[in-house]
Amino acid sequence: MRKIYIFDTTLRDGEQSPGVNLNTKEKVEIALQLEKLGVDRMEAGFPAASPGDLAAVNAVARAVKNSTVIGLSRSREQDIDAVREALIGAQDPCLHLFLATSPIHRQHKLRMDKGQVLETAEAAIRYAKKYFDKIEFSLEDAGRTELDFICEVTAMAIRAGAKVVNLPDTVGYLTPYEYGNIFKTVKENVPGVEHIQLSAHCHDDLGMATANALAAILNGADQIEGTINGIGERAGNTAIEEVVMALETRQDFFQAKTSLVLSEIYRTSRLVSKLTGMPVPGNKAIIGANAFAHESGIHQDGMLKEKTTYEIMSPEMIGVKESKLVLGKHSGRHAFRENLTELGYDQLSEEQLNTAFAKFKELADKKKNVTEDDLRAIIEEKLVDT
Ligand code: KIV
Ligand code: ZN
Repeated sequence: MRKIYIFDTTLRDGEQSPGVNLNTKEKVEIALQLEKLGVDRMEAGFPAASPGDLAAVNAVARAVKNSTVIGLSRSREQDIDAVREALIGAQDPCLHLFLATSPIHRQHKLRMDKGQVLETAEAAIRYAKKYFDKIEFSLEDAGRTELDFICEVTAMAIRAGAKVVNLPDTVGYLTPYEYGNIFKTVKENVPGVEHIQLSAHCHDDLGMATANALAAILNGADQIEGTINGIGERAGNTAIEEVVMALETRQDFFQAKTSLVLSEIYRTSRLVSKLTGMPVPGNKAIIGANAFAHESGIHQDGMLKEKTTYEIMSPEMIGVKESKLVLGKHSGRHAFRENLTELGYDQLSEEQLNTAFAKFKELADKKKNVTEDDLRAIIEEKLVDT
């Protein structure tokens, strides 16, 4: 089974979510939880962005012992020096350099031609090599870069000494087929690619970040970059929990696995949501409140007979206590009886149960969810005299 490395960027790209600002203490708290989750690598921030971020990255670097800690840097010496300072004390430091390669970025943002992009990136990698053993180089906006130029820049980065080359779909523009094809092309055409790792970094502007990351894996990517809960710039990044659970649940298909501690997924998700102030939508895959909740009578009946009828993974795997049978207007007698039993009402006669069920359906028509308190009220108030 092939190992897929997980590069978590919750503390950098995730923190770039509009409205999110994590202080040093919060970054360290999340970093320690990411370490428990078992991420291979974590990007702690962008030290050149502010003295506060440099200090926060340094605090993370000193606190984390079992994951590689990474600092982001533009392809310029002052940024690289800021990462050097920020990663003092790190057990396993890594520099993440980037430079845009797409025609749109070359023309409008960098005002550089292809030759200048190659020269600038190479000079940065060679300067960084004096101080860092581990360097990842990212071709920003690789998704909209000419395929032959992607190959040319990747070959240069390998020669200059990068250990990981990242090919990001920076603006979430590509389809899985197109993104997978970039990896296939690089794997087949770039000399020396077998000596480095290729990384995928996707954004969710068209809702395809997870699908694109999985397509990259199918075409040879060794590492997936993403964030917890999929937070990040604009519509966010690949949600790590989605990729990890897709690989876990469909090992038969992907033949690849991460080394994450799955039972820490839910706890990590809650912590990130709390400290970033970004709520997790109820229907969010894997970690949403409804991900293991069943409302319809048909589904509840199936669940009570055999859980795999409507669940492809168990909530316990990701650290959620149990599935929920939510009572609403679609629920049936089986789930109703099960809920009453759990509340201790297991001695009702058939007639009492029928009366209570009719009352419950009346209430469920008026209310989205019928709570435990509602059930108690139905039983205590309506059935006492029956
Ligand atoms: O989306 C992107 O291209 C990035 C780079 C800095 C890797 O976040
Ligand atoms: Zn990004």
